[in-house]
Amino acid sequence: MDCPKGWPEQVVRVQALSDSGLMTIPDLYVKPPAERPSVGNGGDVTSDIPVIELGGLAEGAAECRATIRAVGDACSEWGFFQVVNHGVSPDLVARVREVWRAFFHLPMEEKQAYANDPKTYEGYGSRVGVEKGAILDWGDYFFLHLLPESIKNQNKWPALPSSCRETVQEYADELAKLCGTLMKALSISLGLDVEQLQTAFGGDAVGACLRVNYYPRCPQPELTLGLSAHSDPGGLTILLADDCVNGLQVRRGDDWVTVQPIPGAFIVNVGDQIQVLSNAVYRSVEHRVVVNAAQERLSLAFFYNPRSDVAIAPVSKLVTPERPQLYRPMTFDEYRLYIRKKGPKGKSQVESLKAQSVN
Ligand code: OGA
Ligand code: NI
Repeated sequence: MDCPKGWPEQVVRVQALSDSGLMTIPDLYVKPPAERPSVGNGGDVTSDIPVIELGGLAEGAAECRATIRAVGDACSEWGFFQVVNHGVSPDLVARVREVWRAFFHLPMEEKQAYANDPKTYEGYGSRVGVEKGAILDWGDYFFLHLLPESIKNQNKWPALPSSCRETVQEYADELAKLCGTLMKALSISLGLDVEQLQTAFGGDAVGACLRVNYYPRCPQPELTLGLSAHSDPGGLTILLADDCVNGLQVRRGDDWVTVQPIPGAFIVNVGDQIQVLSNAVYRSVEHRVVVNAAQERLSLAFFYNPRSDVAIAPVSKLVTPERPQLYRPMTFDEYRLYIRKKGPKGKSQVESLKAQSVN
């Protein structure tokens, strides 16, 4: 089951549409009314995702335990949290934002040299999914495989502009380290051995990808989305949100909560693979992005994924008579083909694993 080589329709860069100064967006980007970001459906912030001081992990035993508990509670109740005091240098964060902002501001012909295709998705893209006639999102992106090293070296990062390489490598190393720490905290908070989640992910051969999202200004933000509702297919996501412009909304029951990023924080969320491994103790929660007419928005999503060829299934300790195994095993290679073909579709994929679950 492979993805096709080419896109089903001519690729239109959302940035080019936005820059053309059009006053109404093409029908292709107009969402059905139920999916639009209407007032009262995400506008009011009455609560916000938990904020966790990660420095607590390096403090005394009591502090460390409390921090791990806070991480666990956030993963089961929200599926999302912000981390501060995470150890990644503010200077590096500023530089990585800067290189990607500069990339998206290059002339279009230069960016086109990195145009991607649905076979690997690596490079400059403007859609996820290959269904002809699908309603598209108001955003462009750059997608990159960072780990395992073997993949990166094989391809020699053909898709990565040289101006970005050093900074992206440095950023990837730091974020992989942060994910390693979070995986330990999640493992302990689930009552597992400290390395158990990481081992289930395939040990040292885990995968990591970067998706740099660029959401241009939109003349009719009330009709569309920068990124449709989806859950992240992988393990953990570390989002570096825009430092000025909000846009990320997280599902909370029937509501959408707009995240207010704290300066210097990362936004962490549980992906489908952790939901599966934890037998749904931890939740991969739907989220989406709204756009606006006044300002563009840039975000970097770092995805920490299981090794692509190991079967991911609920860990046996979390399968009990009261909580039977909810999901059947699947490799991440197989799993991610779904979003790569169909595009962002809420939580339908992880739900489909459930429907066919072992009993
Ligand atoms: C993603 C994502 C959120 C954002 O790339 O999967 O959810 O704020 N991004 O751009
Ligand atoms: Ni996401």
